[in-house]
Amino acid sequence: MTLVDYEALATAAQNARNLAYAPYSRFQVGAAVLTASGKIFCGGNIENAAYPLTMCAERVALYSAYAAGEREILALAVVTDTDDVASPCGACRQVMIELAPRCDVLLLNMQGHQRLTTPHALLPHSFGPSQLDEANR
Ligand code: THU
Repeated sequence: MTLVDYEALATAAQNARNLAYAPYSRFQVGAAVLTASGKIFCGGNIENAAYPLTMCAERVALYSAYAAGEREILALAVVTDTDDVASPCGACRQVMIELAPRCDVLLLNMQGHQRLTTPHALLPHSFGPSQLDEANR
């Protein structure tokens, strides 16, 4: 069993938040994922003048890990500057379910408030690959 250093992961997410490109919303988000190989992949949100092309921090970090060949995500930390802890958007919850279904999700704000949760708690009754299989039976 790999022990997760949540403090290191939170620090990585905070550093990634500082690198977010969010000139339109000015709402910076940072994310960091820890993989089973012990590596940390980070990302901040990246916006675009064509607004829908924006990519959330969580997906930048998860896609970055997958792009490097990682397939087992142990933990994901998300940092926002909000009164309550971060709350991942629906699209990111859907991506977490598929790419990191068994990971621990640590949501944090800048005051150090924290909530530990899971992709399944964030997105119950989700759509997934098994439903695609049913259509092809
Ligand atoms: N954002 C994230 O990066 N993650 C979330 O889970 C919620 C929203 C970003 C997208 C956009 O750049 C900004 O926050 C405002 O929606």
